[in-house]
Amino acid sequence: MSLLIENASQVVTCHTKGRKFKAGKFQSEIGLLKNTSIYTDGGRIKWIGNKLPARFKSGKMKKIDARGKCVLPGFIDSHTHLVFAGSRADEFSMRIKGSTYEQIARAGGGIISTVKATRKASKAELIELALKRIISSVSFGVTTIEAKSGYGLDTASELKMLEVISELNSELPVDIYSTFLGAHAYPKDKTRSEYLEEILYEMIPQIAKRDLANFIDAFCEKNYFSVADTKKIFMQGIKFGLVPKLHTNQFYSIGGIEAAIECGAISVDHLEVMKPSDIKALINSGIIAVVFPAVSYFLDIPYAPARKMIESKIPVAIATDFNPGSAMSENIQLSMSMAVHMLKMNVEEVINAVTINAAAALGISHNVGSIETGKQADMVIFDTPNYNDLLYHFGINQAEAVIKRGEVIYG
Ligand code: NIG
Ligand code: FE
Repeated sequence: MSLLIENASQVVTCHTKGRKFKAGKFQSEIGLLKNTSIYTDGGRIKWIGNKLPARFKSGKMKKIDARGKCVLPGFIDSHTHLVFAGSRADEFSMRIKGSTYEQIARAGGGIISTVKATRKASKAELIELALKRIISSVSFGVTTIEAKSGYGLDTASELKMLEVISELNSELPVDIYSTFLGAHAYPKDKTRSEYLEEILYEMIPQIAKRDLANFIDAFCEKNYFSVADTKKIFMQGIKFGLVPKLHTNQFYSIGGIEAAIECGAISVDHLEVMKPSDIKALINSGIIAVVFPAVSYFLDIPYAPARKMIESKIPVAIATDFNPGSAMSENIQLSMSMAVHMLKMNVEEVINAVTINAAAALGISHNVGSIETGKQADMVIFDTPNYNDLLYHFGINQAEAVIKRGEVIYG
């Protein structure tokens, strides 16, 4: 069935003008249209304008009156770890009392504690847990999500996590892109070289053969994976058709950015700790800088220098990094609010950062991330006539209807 969204007070198109992402001054252009209607058919945007042409009027059509509302492209959460079992609420409480994330990890908590719980959980249990989180994420306007493995750290458990993501993707209306993050931490029951060999020669070939991941990732950080390990993993991933994206510069700057650029990564994610040379390396690299204000807020660590990166014409995307240790919130609107206040981004930059630039961080900006004819009909209708209200009236959810491929999937 076709869908007509009629007379929206504002349509924020995030138009691309044919580009893959928005950088520099262009990141604050959102392509605002007033009193506009949108017609979708077959899951795609067919027409945007004021008076629907007669040729679109045949057949069954659902109509939504959008007077007094604004319509945005569906949000894209380009970085999450939403498949996991167990809880780290007690660890959180310890952190609040003064322990650091790194101290807790060294004492056997952190990622390793989630690994224990996730290894024990069945696929059905993981699906049930992840499903709730995805529904929550969608309720805030998300229509495309990325999800990672990385809480298995052995072949069977990493495959189990990726199978969960793949099943959720085929059963749910939202698109879920999957990333293999075997290199999230070293497991306690193997030597480092044994585990690295397992990633390279068991996990990657099996994952590729079964088409279980789009991307390959690593946690390139002091005490986790070195630049040399990261490059080996990326080169092997590329050989098997996976696209690299990298967790880097969260606590230290150890050369992850250069490695990512050298390996042709699509995005570098985190970036809380950046040397001037790291920023310089990103300029004109075409890589998307994905930042997580919710991680800085939750761990009380520095915020990524998003303002500086935007001024250096580096395309910036924002994601939740939803995970049990460093950002336990699937609310992308909360991350958007933090981006305004803590990263000093303006409202328009933030909107592009969760739509078109987030799409570019997943290599899908030709298909989603903006409201343009020909694109997939992924949109959100907000119950306000002014898009600034999304960030002005904060702490509440104004998403009224979430539309995926021309169908209302929430609200
Ligand atoms: O992106 N930094 C590495 N990985 C996650 C946190 C994982 C965890 O603490 O469970 C992140 O922040
Ligand atoms: Fe992450």
